Amino acid sequence: SNPSLLILPGDGIGPEVMAEVRRIIDWYGDKRGLAFDVSEDLVGGAAYDAHGTPLHDDTMAKAQEVDAVLLGAVGGPKYDVLDFSVKPERGLLRLRKEMDLYSNLRPAQCFDALADFSSLKKDVVAGLDIMIVRELTSGVYFGEPRGIFEEGNERVGINTQRYTESEIDRVARSAFELAMRRGKKVCSMEKANVMESGILWREVVTEVGKDYPEVELSHMYADAGAMQLCRWPKQFDVIVTDNLFGDLLSDAAAMLTGSLGMLPSASLGAPMENGRPKALYEPVHGSAPDIAGQGKANPIACILSFAMALRYSFDQGAEAERLEKAIETVLADGVRTADLLGEEGVTPVSTSGMGDAILAALDAS
Ligand code: NAI
Ligand code: MG
Repeated sequence: SNPSLLILPGDGIGPEVMAEVRRIIDWYGDKRGLAFDVSEDLVGGAAYDAHGTPLHDDTMAKAQEVDAVLLGAVGGPKYDVLDFSVKPERGLLRLRKEMDLYSNLRPAQCFDALADFSSLKKDVVAGLDIMIVRELTSGVYFGEPRGIFEEGNERVGINTQRYTESEIDRVARSAFELAMRRGKKVCSMEKANVMESGILWREVVTEVGKDYPEVELSHMYADAGAMQLCRWPKQFDVIVTDNLFGDLLSDAAAMLTGSLGMLPSASLGAPMENGRPKALYEPVHGSAPDIAGQGKANPIACILSFAMALRYSFDQGAEAERLEKAIETVLADGVRTADLLGEEGVTPVSTSGMGDAILAALDAS
């Protein structure tokens, strides 16, 4: 049977960018004999409107069964007044938590045609292709004790950085596995100089590294890593780091390469019975209420998220590359959605116009 894909378009521009992904999925079925069993469901505000919850139990169950989940975006001003427990974001958090997606992959990749968009010099970013692996389910965002407590005559805010060996081991393994399929380099970032969790992190990553003798492992303090990311990011291949440092480093690395409309992500968990990892793919951007419903959204982040699904869930690395090349061609031809405009005199294409151009480039590939 065909590999299965659950599509959750969500809110705002989510359904708009996902419509373009669906056309590309259809193209793979028609032209490459690569058919998927696609089902579609609600998440976020759209699910709340229909069911009074941002993620229905049936949808959660479906997400656990399929080979991969592809999500658009959730949220919007309409839902800001909702109670915390039913906010759109809770739908996404529930997916990540119940699927136990501990390894968050954030590529920072620079398409040459967009190198001028970077906040850095062109030669620093042109051709950049690095991957930040962020631990997503543990660390200081989850550790206990946490809270705001009375202490003497004032209050104290407490969060706890906590990592078990097995939590470090599994995310480290996913980073080394990735490196084996890429440039065979892993740089692990922590603060072993001032944090015990960092000392343990370094020990465990070093131990895991012994299982991957082909991969060159280095360690860097996360603050020095931040400097190096801005100074000469091409020195890196895969960076593996904890939840907090990964949050900061991946956002910083994202801006090396330009627009939010271009950034995909993957969140992976443990292998399922069929050997594929539990997986959720989604663009980094949100529901962009300021441009929703206007056909202005850039669908590339969501399309690149599908390319990641091809590569990491469906073992179709060559087809993922075909799709990324098509995007590169289109950008090199000067096709731009409004968020990518820089040059004078270029007329932006719509969301579906960008989809058209990418499909044409795929046809020509
Ligand atoms: P956002 O990412 O939705 O938008 C930030 C800015 O980038 C806006 O000016 C938007 O127009 C632009 N932008 C984003 N994606 C774009 C695209 N594909 N093409 C062109 N321009 C794009 O972040 P914001 O405004 O902070 O949040 C809006 C809503 O989205 C909120 O409800 C927030 O909670 C939610 N959100 C959801 C996320 C998710 O579903 N994973 C992540 C971040 C925010
Ligand atoms: Mg962040």
